[in-house]
Amino acid sequence: MSYRIAAIPGSTKEDSTHLRLLKVIQLDFHDVTFDIYTGISNLPHFNPDHDRDTPHESVRSFREKLRSADAILICTPEYAMGVPGTLKNALDWTVSSAEFYEKPVALITASTVGEKGHRALMETLLIMGSKIAPDAHTIISSIKSRAPGGVPDPAARTTMQKVVRSLIEEIHRRKIAEKKTA
Ligand SMILES: Cc1cc2nc3c(=O)[nH]c(=O)nc-3n(C[C@H](O)[C@H](O)[C@H](O)COP(=O)(O)O)c2cc1C
Repeated sequence: MSYRIAAIPGSTKEDSTHLRLLKVIQLDFHDVTFDIYTGISNLPHFNPDHDRDTPHESVRSFREKLRSADAILICTPEYAMGVPGTLKNALDWTVSSAEFYEKPVALITASTVGEKGHRALMETLLIMGSKIAPDAHTIISSIKSRAPGGVPDPAARTTMQKVVRSLIEEIHRRKIAEKKTA
C-alpha cells in the first residue's frame, strides 16, 4: 500500500529547523511519500472576499496538495506565544474548502518552549475537523539544543518517529476499512 503525507514546515526560513526535521522524517520513513510544502509564504493574505470559486493559483495548488494526501503533518515553532502568522494564514485558506476535515493530522511543535502555540494550533486543527490521534502530536522544547543545525538528538528523533508512526497507522487503518467497503 502506498502512503502520501503532505508535510508543512511552519517556519518560512529558507533552511529552517522545521524543514530540516521534516527532511529527517522523510529519510526515516523512506517507504512513505512526503510532499513537503514550502510555499506558505507565497499564499496571499487571507480575505473572505477572495475566498471564492476561482481562488489565487497558489491557494488552489496548496489546497490540491492537501486534498490529494492521505494525511497531513505539520512541524512548527511557536512565535510570540502563538501560531506563526504565516502558518495560520495558510490554514485560514482551508476553512471553507475543508481540506483538514476528517483528515488524519499530526503536529510536532518544535520550539524553545512551544506549549501555547501547540495548544492554539491543536484547537484550530480540531475545529476544522482534523483527526488527531493522542500519539500523533507532541511538543519538543529547547529545540535549538535538541536539534542543533536541524539534526535531532536520538530522543527527539524517536519522539518524532512515534508521532509519524501513529499517523501512518491511522492511514493504514483507513485504507483497510476502505478496501473492505469497496
Ligand atoms: C519572531 C519569533 C518569535 C518567537 N517566539 C517564540 C515563542 O513565543 N516561544 C518559543 O518557544 N519560541 C519562540 N521563538 C523561537 C523559535 O522557537 C525558534 O526560532 C525556532 O524554534 C528555531 O528554529 P529556526 O531558528 O530554525 O526557525 C520565536 C522566534 C521568532 C523568530
